[in-house]
Amino acid sequence: MGSALLEGTEVSKRFGGLQVLSRVSFRVDPGEIVALIGPNGAGKTTLFNLISGLLPPTGGSIRLGAHTLTGLPAHRISRLGVGRTFQTPRPFMDMTALDNVRVAALFTERQAGPAHGLLSLVGLADVAGMPARHLPAGSRKLLELAMALALGPQVVLLDEILAGLTPTEVQAATGIFRRIRDERGVALFWVEHVMHAVMQTAERIVVLHHGEVICEGGPQAVAQDARVLEAYLGREDSS
Ligand SMILES: Nc1ncnc2c1ncn2[C@@H]1O[C@H](COP(=O)(O)OP(=O)(O)OP(=O)(O)O)[C@@H](O)[C@H]1O
Ligand SMILES: [Mg+2]
Repeated sequence: MGSALLEGTEVSKRFGGLQVLSRVSFRVDPGEIVALIGPNGAGKTTLFNLISGLLPPTGGSIRLGAHTLTGLPAHRISRLGVGRTFQTPRPFMDMTALDNVRVAALFTERQAGPAHGLLSLVGLADVAGMPARHLPAGSRKLLELAMALALGPQVVLLDEILAGLTPTEVQAATGIFRRIRDERGVALFWVEHVMHAVMQTAERIVVLHHGEVICEGGPQAVAQDARVLEAYLGREDSS
């Protein structure tokens, strides 16, 4: 194993009396597609909020290459090369898709290429001139992906980016993820509930349940893991 690109060590988060993440360790290698799955409320979005600096962890550390991210403000983390999309996307609604990508690119010195090329990469070239508010929710998520790529990231955190897409769009999107990885060398850390897409696309899967990593491995191993099946079937006390 080489050195990790993005690595968390025993990361914890408590909200008042609620322990949402407990000693979560994870790694994403350069150019790797890693899925983060788990039932609703497992703590997936919270982990992304800690990585991207929107919330401080209550324990543990997170680093990107040689940089310690823990304690840095979100804009520094973004500039160091961690992009993200949100479970509920929030582009500038009155701006066109193309202008949203152009605005995102203003905040970096890295050269990610022309904005329209990024829109083409995510399959939105046809709606480049359309205000974001007229895009369906699924397209807004892909727009956020293009905006994240405009910052020239090393890794992008995707939070349920396939929710609301049709099966055909899901197939197209997973092809886009592979192209982003293959052509730009960008690693993806990807929260997703659309399980067949995860199984086809992710190289490694991390499973969170009640804020703890209960399983980690390749798609086949994870799909056959008894703890994972129990977590999804909700039989907490079964033998
Ligand atoms: N800012 C907050 N303050 C208090 N509790 C929070 C906060 N953010 C999240 N939580 C709680 O943390 C737990 C994990 O939430 P989180 O959104 O991380 O789950 P998730 O795995 O992303 O779920 P989903 O699959 O439904 O998106 C939930 O119990 C949630 O209510
Ligand atoms: Mg979530």
